[in-house]
Amino acid sequence: MSDRVYIFDTTLRDGEQVPGCQLNTEEKVVIAQELEKLGVDVIEAGFPISSPGDFKSVIAISKAVSEPTITALSRAVEKDIDRAGEALKYAKRGRIHTGIGTSDQHIFTKLKSDREKVIERAVAAVKYAKKYVEDVEFYAEDAGRTDNEYLARVLEAVVAAGATVLNIPDTTGFCLPEEYGQKIRYIAENVKDVHKAVISTHCHNDLGLAVANSIAAVQNGARQIECTINGIGERAGNTSLEEVVMIMKKKANARGYTNINTQYLYPTSQLVSQLMNMPVQANKAVVGRNAFAHSSGIHQDGVIKNRENYEIIDPLEVGVDKSSIILTARSGRAALNYNLNSIGVDLSKEELDIAYERFLVMADELKVVQDEDLKRLVESLSLNKVS
Ligand code: KIV
Ligand code: ZN
Repeated sequence: MSDRVYIFDTTLRDGEQVPGCQLNTEEKVVIAQELEKLGVDVIEAGFPISSPGDFKSVIAISKAVSEPTITALSRAVEKDIDRAGEALKYAKRGRIHTGIGTSDQHIFTKLKSDREKVIERAVAAVKYAKKYVEDVEFYAEDAGRTDNEYLARVLEAVVAAGATVLNIPDTTGFCLPEEYGQKIRYIAENVKDVHKAVISTHCHNDLGLAVANSIAAVQNGARQIECTINGIGERAGNTSLEEVVMIMKKKANARGYTNINTQYLYPTSQLVSQLMNMPVQANKAVVGRNAFAHSSGIHQDGVIKNRENYEIIDPLEVGVDKSSIILTARSGRAALNYNLNSIGVDLSKEELDIAYERFLVMADELKVVQDEDLKRLVESLSLNKVS
């Protein structure tokens, strides 16, 4: 049976940590409004203590958006939590996202502390955040490399302190899907009163496994996925929102469904790419330029006969107008004829044979033959077919 999975978008916080992609408040508000249309459940609007601009943006987003919960990040430090609490003053539904490193790596070499003191700080931070909001999410930074038994102790303590969401970040993108899935299952089965909180996944893509790990987490009991548009984020990025959403839509055994209006996926991807001045990789799943483009003759012929021969997603489902047939020297007659028809040219079989020979020469030269080139080609045949 599938369960509702909450989509927590952190494009404006973790995503915005991409070097050179910083946004101003107005741009952040435009993206937040698009995310609301997309149907995300939670928007992480920023890290208010980090700069006056981020503080101002969290306030502006809280005022501009009403459906999703608005979250602000803080470390387990009172002054951070105060700033987050103040910034969320106008949010209809506000959540403070606070936490601390729990792996031995972080405890000993970053925090220069010990395991017991970290539990104390975690509990104190959650209790302090409760002064501002009822909804407090706790993150166990570097949970991916944290010993499971200790992690369960930390989580049990923060649930008792009132945490409503337990975020289990694979901060360094270190886990394999099976390991991360087992970690989530261990938490779901061993943390006392875990039912009082939602288990959340937050995966980084250092080994290209962020999406796979997020889905493994859902299959093992997580009910919130933290992700970004186009998978942008620190280093190799975060879990890509569009990919996890479409996986859950297409695969019943992913065991989750979301509230996302998928026809806004492509427009949202484009908006984020333009405002951040960060191109989307052409072969990016779901929203890349080539995600619905077919260029080899065998595939083109198959897709022209029936789209589902080579596509598991209808482009309209994600807001892309149509699949495209890209004409190259690997294309066959079926593809040439298809694109000729789409510009209003109808050739007999004999005419098509002649056109195809000329087309191959052109394709070797140009690499990709566009509609304009096709018109020139038909004119050069003196068939007078171009309308
Ligand atoms: O990757 C991470 O651990 C984070 C936390 C701050 C949630 O982004
Ligand atoms: Zn992160």
